[in-house]
Amino acid sequence: RIVYLNGEFLPFDQARVPVMDRGFLFADGIYEVSAIIEGRLVDNAAHLARLDRSLGEIGIRNPHDAAEWERLQTELVAKNGVVEGLVYMQVTRGVYERDFAFPPADTPPTVMMFTQAKTVIANTLAETGAKVVTVEDLRWKRRDIKSVALLAQVLTKQAAAEAGVAEAWMVEDGAVTEGSSSTAFIATKDGRLVTRPLSTALLPGITRAAVMRLAAETGLTVEERLFSVDEAHAASEAFYTSASAFVMPVVAIDGRPIGEGVPGPVARRLRELYIAMAR
Ligand code: PDD
Repeated sequence: RIVYLNGEFLPFDQARVPVMDRGFLFADGIYEVSAIIEGRLVDNAAHLARLDRSLGEIGIRNPHDAAEWERLQTELVAKNGVVEGLVYMQVTRGVYERDFAFPPADTPPTVMMFTQAKTVIANTLAETGAKVVTVEDLRWKRRDIKSVALLAQVLTKQAAAEAGVAEAWMVEDGAVTEGSSSTAFIATKDGRLVTRPLSTALLPGITRAAVMRLAAETGLTVEERLFSVDEAHAASEAFYTSASAFVMPVVAIDGRPIGEGVPGPVARRLRELYIAMAR
C-alpha cells in the first residue's frame, strides 16, 4: 500500500508525521473524501472546490491547484490499483512548537493522501437498507468546514455501532442536522424530498448537491427546510447520502420502521441514477 505525504509516494509504514504536527495536537486541519468507481474519481472537482473553501475558511493556504491535486490523486489511485473505493486527502497547518495561535506563515502544511479499496456500488447494505438512531448533535458552530476535528462524530458513530445500526442522525433543537458522516433526507407521503438547507450548521454535501440535481431532473420536488425527528419517524421514506455511501436507503429510525420497512422506490431510483452518473 502506497500513501502520499508531502510530495512523496511512500510505502504505508514509511509515511511518518512528527508529534508536533498541528493536526495531531489541535486537529488543526481539513480533509476530503472522493469516491473511486471503475478506477475513476467521482464528482472530484466539487470535492476539490470544497477542500479549497474549507482551507480558506481556516486560513491554510491550499498547497495545490485543482489540476495538481487531481494529478496526485490519480497517480495514487493507479499506484494502489484501486478500482472501487475512496481517496482520502488531508491538509494540516503543519509542524511547529506547540502554541495555539498560527505558526509563522512560511510553515509548510502537512499534505497527506491514502486510498481505501471498498465495495461502493454492490454494497449489500443498500439492498437491505440501513437503520439509524438519532442522537444529540454535540458539534461546534462551523460544521460547514470539513475539519479533521471529528470527536463528536466519533462518539456519534460509536453510539450507532453500540445500537447495532449503520448511522446516527444528529439532532439540534428537535431538528435533524445531518448524519455523523452523511446528509439526511426524508420523503413525505405526497412524494416531496426534504433536506436541511445549507448553513454553518451542516456540511454542504457534494453527494447532496448531485442527488438534488438528479431529483429535480426526474421531476421530484425538493424542499430545503428543517425537519424534526417526529417528521422523520412518520416519513414515507428516508435515506442518507455521502461520497462513501452514495444514496443509502433508511428502513428504520430509532427502531421504528420507515414506510414498509424496506428500501423505498424514491431512494432506490436516486441510488440508480447516482451510480449511472458516477460511472
Ligand atoms: N463524510 N455530513 C457530514 C458530517 C460528513 O462527514 C459527510 C461526509 C457528509 C456527506 O458529504 P459528501 O456527500 O460530500 O461526502 C455530510 C465523509 C464521507 C467522511 O467523513 O468519510
